[in-house]
Amino acid sequence: MNSDMTQGVSRRSFLRIVGAASAAATSFPAFAAMTPAAAPAGQTARRSRGMQALSADTVVISSNENPLGPAQSALTAICSMGVQGGRYHWDEYVKTIDVFNGEFGLKKDYSALFPGSSGPLDLALMSNLGPDKPLVYGDPSYEQGPRAAEVMKAPKYPVPLTGTYAHDVKAMLKAHPAPGAYYIVNPNNPTGTMTPKEDIVWLVNNKPKGSVVIIDEAYHHFSNDESCIDLVNQDKDVIVMRTFSKIYGMAGLRAGFVVARPDLIERFNNVGGPSQSLASVSITSAAAARASLQDKDLVPLRKKINGDIRTETVEFLTKHGYKVIQGSQGNMFMVDVKRPGKEFQNAMLKENVAVGRTWSAMPNYVRVTVGTKAEMEKFQTAFVKCMDMPAGAANGAAELHMPEFHVPSELYRG
Ligand SMILES: Cc1ncc(COP(=O)(O)O)c(C=O)c1O
Repeated sequence: MNSDMTQGVSRRSFLRIVGAASAAATSFPAFAAMTPAAAPAGQTARRSRGMQALSADTVVISSNENPLGPAQSALTAICSMGVQGGRYHWDEYVKTIDVFNGEFGLKKDYSALFPGSSGPLDLALMSNLGPDKPLVYGDPSYEQGPRAAEVMKAPKYPVPLTGTYAHDVKAMLKAHPAPGAYYIVNPNNPTGTMTPKEDIVWLVNNKPKGSVVIIDEAYHHFSNDESCIDLVNQDKDVIVMRTFSKIYGMAGLRAGFVVARPDLIERFNNVGGPSQSLASVSITSAAAARASLQDKDLVPLRKKINGDIRTETVEFLTKHGYKVIQGSQGNMFMVDVKRPGKEFQNAMLKENVAVGRTWSAMPNYVRVTVGTKAEMEKFQTAFVKCMDMPAGAANGAAELHMPEFHVPSELYRG
């Protein structure tokens, strides 16, 4: 294969993205908001405040990261690739894309490699949204969907999850006659719960012509269900997002894939696309991603470790009478803290345990990421102690701002 070509985005179209990006930075407000240089002072300040450090002994179970970090196979690949870091090495990306495509039997040009999935998720959303192209999405779910809709001035149609915390595809279809996109997170963030594949297939087959279904499979490796990537192979109007930030433990290293028909990936160019510095994956991350994909024991082993610790933690909480949203197949779950979640989060921080945020649809629940066994033991002790405090007791505690969102969407927050 031509080494000037990444499999998802040809060098020609890639350069078009970059070219369009610089033009769009001046003419297109959404893109201008994505460039750090263009971020108003307040946004920059908020971003750095969000990065405030936690003490070294804090148990951090707030951002759905993987406490195991990158696999040994990935670390070894990074070390051997690092010495070649003086070269651009387009072929490294192509090799990684080939391995990914091989895993899913994908046709050529049906995937593209990015630094993480946040960037391409914004592009997938933004290239299909606008004032006359609304977004239909589940509530509660990952906020990147509605935030991208706001940037594009697209009407937002949140649809409550079902009683089992699945996306309510029938209600989503009824929400608007001609949306630009439906956004489905599976497993869902923050609940970890699944939307059955047959429901998603039903939506894809019954949706209005012209809209796309974006299926965010950031946490899919932790689940027992089948991926929706095969719908892309069937040339459906579907965009599937994958990341190496979760089960592969590469949140800081940054690698992710968009999987879609080539015309849907090409459409990203219409919204400017990220500048080259945002779009290009380092060869070390590309090598780590490839090594992780080739490490066949990795996913089953990590899925089991995470699932066992999640089950143990949820059983502990349930046995002690706390209400947990059941059915998580992700590396997280939601628990009812019977007081405003933010207040509980602050109380837990005083115990050196950073739990996740809350969602407006469930203000008294916090999201908890599954950490190591030792971390979850500390969590349990702190949780019981904080729940035993009367509601309101933590008011006035020093607030610690924790990073909640990912670049580049972080920059959108006005
Ligand atoms: C549902 C979902 N999608 C996408 C992302 C983005 O992850 P990344 O940019 O690290 O791939 C996250 C991160 O937490 C997420 O929860």
